Amino acid sequence: MTHATTHAIRFHKTGGPEVLVWEEVNVGKPGQGEARIRHTAVGLNFVDIYNRSGVYPASLPSGLGSEGAGVVEEVGPGVTDLKPGDRVAYGASPLGAYSEARLIPADRLLKLPDGVDDKTAAAMMLKGLTTQYLIRQTYRVKAGDTILLHAAAGGVGLILSQWAKHLGATVIGTVSSDEKAKLAKAHGCDHVIIYTHEDFVKRVDEITGGKKVPVVYDSVGKDTFLKSLDCLAPLGVAALFGASSGAVEPLNLGLLAQKGSLYVTRPTLFTYAAKRENLVAMANELFDVVKSGAVKIEVRQTYALKDAAKAHADLAARKTTGSTVLTV
Ligand SMILES: NC(=O)c1ccc[n+]([C@@H]2O[C@H](COP(=O)([O-])OP(=O)(O)OC[C@H]3O[C@@H](n4cnc5c(N)ncnc54)[C@H](OP(=O)(O)O)[C@@H]3O)[C@@H](O)[C@H]2O)c1
Repeated sequence: MTHATTHAIRFHKTGGPEVLVWEEVNVGKPGQGEARIRHTAVGLNFVDIYNRSGVYPASLPSGLGSEGAGVVEEVGPGVTDLKPGDRVAYGASPLGAYSEARLIPADRLLKLPDGVDDKTAAAMMLKGLTTQYLIRQTYRVKAGDTILLHAAAGGVGLILSQWAKHLGATVIGTVSSDEKAKLAKAHGCDHVIIYTHEDFVKRVDEITGGKKVPVVYDSVGKDTFLKSLDCLAPLGVAALFGASSGAVEPLNLGLLAQKGSLYVTRPTLFTYAAKRENLVAMANELFDVVKSGAVKIEVRQTYALKDAAKAHADLAARKTTGSTVLTV
């Protein structure tokens, strides 16, 4: 099939899940440096909620989604390293993954190795590349470290906890329920704190014998961030990489001095994967840990792509665990 009419989830105004609409779209021919791909699976991510609700403004009307897997149908001028039929995936792209087919800058695509199927790829690219930069670049986790990870049973959470464990770290994870605690334990967390009932600062202090941790990976934001700083050892790194509970209030930088010369960063995958060479190196590390079995990717929920609104509602309501794939 060539550039026939296909379908996509799009939104014409920002708001709740109800603004997502299933529409006919005409995907044209790929331009300079572009490829047209047909999706076989699409990844769901919390960032899709920020885009849909306007926390990260998109130009409207807009497509949605930055993670997917599929097959190349056609390449535009200047694309030499891809050809029709290639299996590809991506996790750091312009919006538009919630679609049967799309145009995409070819330099965002990664050829999928045998041994990584399409659904697995759609479940791991954005979350796994994020994990790569967080634990291998933002703060390089090493054997013997004890680290703190919030939302440990979530999409990024289950990947990061396994990968950090594989690097030899002791992983302390926080979750909101007993069921999620079991899941986090089965995926590399040595200690799990139910932060909705327990004081995680106190528990981290007990678990580490008062030493605290050199890094906290905090994607929850508003509800956790200030307390996360209290879990850090002197010179510790607070990697605030999300805002699932809302945005963190402006911070008095003097607090970083008082709490032990701390570092705070607000990193994004967009920055770390901006250059093609970095994206490829990060993806190769991800493929290696997945192919070796050190990090197991489980698709824990699937929804039909046209039911994306339901998937968004469940993700926002903390009903999902691990990765979620939208099937095309
Ligand atoms: N900066 C980057 O480069 C980057 C890249 C990827 C993802 N992220 C961020 O990483 C986080 C995880 O993304 P994900 O797609 O894997 O999502 P996820 O972790 O599967 O889902 C979010 C989780 O956050 C926890 N949470 C705590 N308070 C919440 C609240 N008020 N509302 C909703 N959830 C709440 C929930 O776990 P509990 O029920 O256990 O609390 C929930 O399951 C998101 O904040 C996302 O924006 C950032």
